[in-house]
Amino acid sequence: MNDAKAKTSATSESVKNDTITLLQAHRSIRRFKQKSINSADLKLIIKAGQAAATSSFCQSVSVIRVTDEYKRAQMAEWAGGQPYVQSAPEFLVFCADLSRAKYLISQLDSHQPLSDSNNDEPFAWTEQFITATLDVGLFAQNCAVAAQSLDLGICYIGGIRNQIQNVSRALELPDLVVPLFGMCIGYPDQSPDRKPRLPTEAVFFENTYVAAKEYEQVSNEYDQHIKHYYEQRTKGKLSQTWSEQLAKQAATQTRPHMQTFLHSKGMAKR
Ligand SMILES: Cc1cc2nc3c(=O)[nH]c(=O)nc-3n(C[C@H](O)[C@H](O)[C@H](O)COP(=O)(O)O)c2cc1C
Repeated sequence: MNDAKAKTSATSESVKNDTITLLQAHRSIRRFKQKSINSADLKLIIKAGQAAATSSFCQSVSVIRVTDEYKRAQMAEWAGGQPYVQSAPEFLVFCADLSRAKYLISQLDSHQPLSDSNNDEPFAWTEQFITATLDVGLFAQNCAVAAQSLDLGICYIGGIRNQIQNVSRALELPDLVVPLFGMCIGYPDQSPDRKPRLPTEAVFFENTYVAAKEYEQVSNEYDQHIKHYYEQRTKGKLSQTWSEQLAKQAATQTRPHMQTFLHSKGMAKR
C-alpha cells in the first residue's frame, strides 16, 4: 500500500486521515491568546467558507467582522454576558442575506416587477429562509474547520439572537438580512476535553427512522457518560445527564421574539 492509501485507510474505530482527525478534534474554545490573526489567514478562512455548497447557487451569506471595540462590548453583553465575544482576536457575525439577491434582480434590464400577487415578495417564503440559513451554517462550518486547520480555535455564538434587534441595528442590517450567530476565533489559551457525542447508532439509521425508545439502553449509557464528563470538567460543580439538560432547555422559553423579528425583516412570512 502506498503512503497516500495508508493515510486514508483505517478500521472503523481508528483515525482515518488528517481531515477526519481535525474534524474529530473539535471542541469549542472560549479563552484565547491575545495574538492577532493575520489578514491573509482571515481571508483564507472566509474563502474556505465561500467554497461550501450553496442552495440553488444563491450564496445567501454575508459575514460581518466586528472590530469596533464598543460594538464588541455591546455584542458580548447582548449575547448574555459572554466575555470571549469581547476578548477574542476576531469576532464574525454570520448573516442570512437575501437582500443582495433582491437588489441584483431589481437591477436587471429585463426585470419586470412581479405582478402575481402570490409572488410579489419572492424572498418572504419560509423555504427561502430555510435555504439561506442552511447556506450560512455550511459556510460557517467551513470557516470553523479552516480556522482549526490553522491551529486556531473557534466558538459559535448563538447568544447574539438574545437581542437580535440590537445586533441588527448596530450592524446596520437592512431588510432581508438576519444575523444568525457569531463566531469567536483566535489562538486557544485552553485545552478543554472534547464533548462526547451520542453513539452513532442513535443518529444514523438505514431506510427507516428508529424511534428513541428502541435504543433507550444506549441513551441511558450516554446520559451517564455526559454526567461524568460534566462532573470532571467542572470539578463536581455540575452534575447532570444529557436528558436532564434537554429537560431544562425545553422548560425555558427560547427567544420568543424570533418570529416577530424575522417578519419585520421580510423573511419567513409565509
Ligand atoms: C449555532 C451555535 C450557537 C452556539 N452558541 C453558543 C454561545 O452563544 N455560547 C457558547 O459558549 N457556545 C455556543 N455554542 C457552542 C455549543 O455550546 C457547543 O458547540 C456544544 O456545547 C458542543 O461542545 P463542543 O463544541 O465543545 O463540542 C454554539 C454552537 C452552535 C453550533
